[in-house]
Amino acid sequence: MSKGNQVSKEVLEKMSKLIVGRRKELELIVRAIEKDLPIIIEGPVGTGKTEMAKALAVSLERPFIRVDGDDSLTSIKLKGWYDPPLVLEKGFSRDTFIAGPLTEAMEEGGLFFYNEVNRAPSETINAVLTALDEKLITIPQLGEIQAQQGFIPVFTYNPQDTVATNPLPKAFYDRCIWINVTHQSLDEMIEIVKLRTQSTDEFLIRISCEIVEVTLNHSELEYGSTVRGAIQLVNLYKMDEKIDEIDLLDRAISVHSRKIRCKTSSRKTEERIIEEIISKVLSRYDDSRILRKKED
Ligand SMILES: Nc1ncnc2c1ncn2[C@@H]1O[C@H](COP(=O)(O)OP(=O)(O)O)[C@@H](O)[C@H]1O
Ligand SMILES: [Mg+2]
Repeated sequence: MSKGNQVSKEVLEKMSKLIVGRRKELELIVRAIEKDLPIIIEGPVGTGKTEMAKALAVSLERPFIRVDGDDSLTSIKLKGWYDPPLVLEKGFSRDTFIAGPLTEAMEEGGLFFYNEVNRAPSETINAVLTALDEKLITIPQLGEIQAQQGFIPVFTYNPQDTVATNPLPKAFYDRCIWINVTHQSLDEMIEIVKLRTQSTDEFLIRISCEIVEVTLNHSELEYGSTVRGAIQLVNLYKMDEKIDEIDLLDRAISVHSRKIRCKTSSRKTEERIIEEIISKVLSRYDDSRILRKKED
């Protein structure tokens, strides 16, 4: 086996300790990185996009430099700018240039993580495209800055996000390896919640994940909740606390009601749907920890 493969195997093993499941996706990421190919991860909110990119940086032992795309992130903010008082004193030089996150990642050979890239203005995307192509950027007065070995661009976007977004140009997809993620299975969600909360309350973890799973497959919902919701619900409980249906409903509403959205065809509110889901999930169990709501 070549040294390259050995390194990749190690990186893959390290990532697998930080990420539950997703073996196929992690393998693809590692193969892409090995060949210096930028990655774009598409998936709904809460599907582990950010976590996978962070796990990659940690496993490669590289700096993680993050930006969040919105229309105020111009190419100047991304590349960097000159500090006017310093320029007056010292003139234009690398010392008077304040590197933006893209330049910083290139100079440090870091993982450049661009979150929600579909929120970026097209002018910013064009600046990023040259960095992808040539692995260099041009800074006025300074000239070209070449990326150090190890510079890795990773982008994400949520296809369900339609507010203040721009379609990404074909040229962008043309340069990237596209990885698509969706919500994980119930068993994997349970493992994720255990890992993230460090809770050993198996019953609470299970019902919290089942609630999320029902929202994800619900015919009256446009979109369901996320594993982050299950993590939050578990965090709202003390170990072995009684599961009082009314309290559970209050907490579940706080956690999930703005993470889900009813279809316009549904006459119900999000709160009403959560109430139905809670009673459905609790009806599966005959556990003395559950204090059921009295029927009126
Ligand atoms: N496969 C996974 N393994 C471990 N943790 C995960 C996984 N998927 C999601 N998570 C956890 O769920 C939460 C949401 O993940 P995140 O990466 O922020 O989602 P996204 O960036 O897609 O919105 C985080 O707390 C993250 O740690
Ligand atoms: Mg994210």
